[in-house]
Amino acid sequence: MIVTTKKLFEAAYGKYAIGAYNINNLEQAMGLFQGNIDSQAPFIIQISKGSRSYTNKLMLEGIIRAADEVFPESIFAVHLDHGDEATCMDCIKSGFYSSVMIDASSEPYEKNIETTKRVVDAAHAKGIVVEAELGQLGGVEEHVNVSEDNAKLTNPDQAKDFVERSGCDSLAVAIGTSHGAFKFQGSQSLHFDVLSQIQKNLPGFPLVMHGSSSVPQEEVERINAAGGKLLGAKGVDASQFRQAAQLGVTKINIDTDGRLVWTRVHREYFLEHPEGFDLRAPGKIFMAEYAKFIAQKNDYLGSAGHLEEVRKLVS
Ligand code: G3H
Ligand code: 13P
Ligand code: ZN
Repeated sequence: MIVTTKKLFEAAYGKYAIGAYNINNLEQAMGLFQGNIDSQAPFIIQISKGSRSYTNKLMLEGIIRAADEVFPESIFAVHLDHGDEATCMDCIKSGFYSSVMIDASSEPYEKNIETTKRVVDAAHAKGIVVEAELGQLGGVEEHVNVSEDNAKLTNPDQAKDFVERSGCDSLAVAIGTSHGAFKFQGSQSLHFDVLSQIQKNLPGFPLVMHGSSSVPQEEVERINAAGGKLLGAKGVDASQFRQAAQLGVTKINIDTDGRLVWTRVHREYFLEHPEGFDLRAPGKIFMAEYAKFIAQKNDYLGSAGHLEEVRKLVS
């Protein structure tokens, strides 16, 4: 069942965070739904601009519609990740998305508010909710490239003004994370002091943490042992998710870790089966491993086991 992120956030706020997972293809969709059913968790499917054009946006929508039928017990939101204004408007028009993210965070403050407000007005007119972003993460986004050193953390005082004037339903905040597999040079630094101040200024308002992959070292070592070259990859400590949730983070975005599962499975499979060429053999392993990965993440997020409680809220 497709629901808005707003409903999921009402259930989760202050207690746990909902996992927001990026997908691009059928195998990820199967593993994603299976893993969330196995761990009895509500979830958010994230579709980026890049994943919409990887095959065809209609193809991805078709896969998600089919998955909804294959796993009728599932409860999830369909969310555009890091949209520009034109992509947001296209998704709002399509009627398929229950939530869109407008990412105008690289624009000057006033322009970010104006752009976000236009998207909010169009989305709310159709019952769709909007995530916006204030501050800049380090690392590489689709249309934003900021170095870790230049990353700008969210200003807690601006956050309140931004939410009031833009009308957004949730806010992605920059508190020290970055996208991709190389998040921290030294030890990691999530700025819980900044997060806590944002929550004080915006009590009860759902916050979002992007760039939250953990980049498990065991996964990196297995990839490298099977021929990969991910040197110095480092991520967020997943045991900090619960603390973030208590400080108002209700959505935690994870993409890179899922890509690492794909890379490990396929590298190891073909190393062990140099004669292999049936794509379904590693595909089957990947779907099972991806489902396991999702269920484990939901344990860290605290969303595991909350499916039936959310069902009562949405039905
Ligand atoms: O934040 C970016 C997400 O990891 C999506 O990545 O734009 O390569 O699909 P992508
Ligand atoms: P990671 O690169 O840490 O998985 O972050 C994903 C993300 O923020 C998607 O919007
Ligand atoms: Zn992101």
